[in-house]
Amino acid sequence: MDRIVTVDKKEEDNFEQNIRPSTLSEYIGQSEVKENLSIFIEAAKMRDEPLDHVLLYGPPGLGKTTLSHIIANELGSNIKTASGPSIEKSGDLAAVLSNLEEGDVLFIDEIHRIPRFIEEILYSAMEDFTLEIVVGTESSSRSIKIDLPPFTLIGATTRAGDLTSPLRDRFGIINKLNYYTEDELKQIALRTSRVLDCPIDEDAASELARRSRGTPRICNRLFKRVRDFSLVMGKGVIDLEITKHALDKLKVDELGLDETDYHLLKSIIEKFNGGPVGIDAIASSIGEEQTTIEDVYEPYLLQTGLLKRTSRGRMVTEKAYKHLGIDYKEK
Ligand SMILES: Nc1ncnc2c1ncn2[C@@H]1O[C@H](COP(=O)(O)OP(=O)(O)O)[C@@H](O)[C@H]1O
Ligand SMILES: [Mg+2]
Repeated sequence: MDRIVTVDKKEEDNFEQNIRPSTLSEYIGQSEVKENLSIFIEAAKMRDEPLDHVLLYGPPGLGKTTLSHIIANELGSNIKTASGPSIEKSGDLAAVLSNLEEGDVLFIDEIHRIPRFIEEILYSAMEDFTLEIVVGTESSSRSIKIDLPPFTLIGATTRAGDLTSPLRDRFGIINKLNYYTEDELKQIALRTSRVLDCPIDEDAASELARRSRGTPRICNRLFKRVRDFSLVMGKGVIDLEITKHALDKLKVDELGLDETDYHLLKSIIEKFNGGPVGIDAIASSIGEEQTTIEDVYEPYLLQTGLLKRTSRGRMVTEKAYKHLGIDYKEK
């Protein structure tokens, strides 16, 4: 069985596409981000200019891709997409840029993964809408400038800290997406219920929300699994009982923690006496990539106060000991 809280791309299936909101007003939560964006979008439209370049960052599954499509939609623009890892040569990026038309939105997902030497091409493209490319052989190479039509770049990243400052500085609008509140996730579950025409009780939606790690993608995935349980074992409506039963079977606890979270916290407690311990040691002790821990697991554990960061490394908190039912000894 796939782990329910994984948030990788392979699960970005049709299901996700279908339930994606397409306007700002349908996009739940992130109210500050939405308010600002709606003003900037309106102003850009009134001036008949492209919107400033936008950087969206935050943990996976919080709605960066969704919001990018919404921005393009609200601008009435076409969106073209690329992703950092797929840009390996200067030519890849040049091809993407030269394919742009006036007013287009170019969405680059995982923008922090564009190699540094290629990234420079973006500087002039973003600043002056020009594309500088080097042509010819090494002995007789020269650079030529090509004008690009005005466009808006939207970059998404889970790690804003990995962007170089020259790139970051060229984004006029920088927004951090935060974990969603229980109430917002409940709204998302109810919205998904409407879109899928699959009724859910209020208290069941609250329970789903509580166990969704503050993350809409996880909320929707859990919804889908609970729907299966309800179809096979339930009464047609997703109620609290079937929701609890399904989530317990899926090993998602009341805080939304899954087996990897448990494994991670327990390792620090058992092998490192609760910390402080470096992220690399944690990674090798539980057999996960360091970046996966940093991007996917740790942010939520920090947010819920189960883990804390100190100058000497990560430490498990008293709250986590309690949650795991392990005796806590003051250090
Ligand atoms: N604010 C929101 N309101 C409603 N649904 C959302 C919201 N943000 C994300 N979602 C849902 O969560 C899923 C994951 O969002 P996505 O934009 O792919 O996240 P990211 O790009 O940050 O990893 C989408 O399919 C969408 O249906
Ligand atoms: Mg995305």
